[in-house]
Amino acid sequence: MKRVDEMKIDIVGAGALGLLYGGKLAASGQQVRFWTRTSEQASRLVSQGITLEEGAGRTEVVRGNIGAYPIQEAISRLRTGKDAEWILVMTKQRHIDKALISGIQSLSGKNTKVLCFQNGIGHLELLENALRSIPVYAAITTEGAKRTGTNCVVRSGTGTTSVGLVGNGHLREQPHLKKAAEKLIDAFVTAGFYTLLSKEIGREIYRKLLINAAINPLTAIWRIPNGELLETAERTALLKQLCDEAISVYNAKGVSFEGDAYAQVAEVCRSTASNTSSMLKDVIQGTPTEIDYINGKLVEMARLVNIPVPGHETVWRLVRGM
Ligand code: PAF
Repeated sequence: MKRVDEMKIDIVGAGALGLLYGGKLAASGQQVRFWTRTSEQASRLVSQGITLEEGAGRTEVVRGNIGAYPIQEAISRLRTGKDAEWILVMTKQRHIDKALISGIQSLSGKNTKVLCFQNGIGHLELLENALRSIPVYAAITTEGAKRTGTNCVVRSGTGTTSVGLVGNGHLREQPHLKKAAEKLIDAFVTAGFYTLLSKEIGREIYRKLLINAAINPLTAIWRIPNGELLETAERTALLKQLCDEAISVYNAKGVSFEGDAYAQVAEVCRSTASNTSSMLKDVIQGTPTEIDYINGKLVEMARLVNIPVPGHETVWRLVRGM
């Protein structure tokens, strides 16, 4: 395994993706510190490590290089970090609220950078405005992970991850911020995540938003895996309608989208055919979905430019009403 510089990495949120990244980064020699929602999960991570299942029957227990504390201790400033180079924000969108942001602030020192992994849009502006001098990056990933216990995760599909600095154009020109991202990407690659530096993360965010806005609500409403969206003409017609409506909004708003949206969405359905989408998972588990940050945001954008999006309006209402 290639050696990379050792870094201190804080992970806020120990759900499926947090455990997957934390486990593999720790196994590759990085110092990982989790900030969890419960103290039970924090103590379990420290005492038992992370059980990581990858591929057929390949299970590893990662114990070294892992610290964990309840995020409440950072929020109430009982414990501050400040020495982590990176804070990976891996909670759901809806958990990024004032309290969590104040926790992130208390963990941020002068060399800290923040990397967000959420689906949807809205949270990045919120974090950028609140964190001001702390550089905020976004990651768009197609890695698949399933949490099977408080400290257990299955890697359900390997994917590609793009990392890029968001917002403020002037920050993007700063060589030290690009270097910092390259160092983190090196650590991700060494840990086993295929990762690229993106100069156009904004465009990728909107590409992913469209994919999620088409696949996620329909799989959640019909309760089917992604691949089954392509199985009947009824389903593909609706999938296509959601793509066309989103593209009309993007065109009116000046958001660029390269290539044929429906072809790309159909390709994601094929390549993740057996996946349960994140929204369907939420519906099955009875937890709130990300519909407001995905289709809700698209509807908001559409209203600003007077573009009708009846498909997105309907699925937004249907999923909200579940
Ligand atoms: O949210 C999800 O589930 C994923 O982003 C995607 C790409 C739709 C695959 O399941």
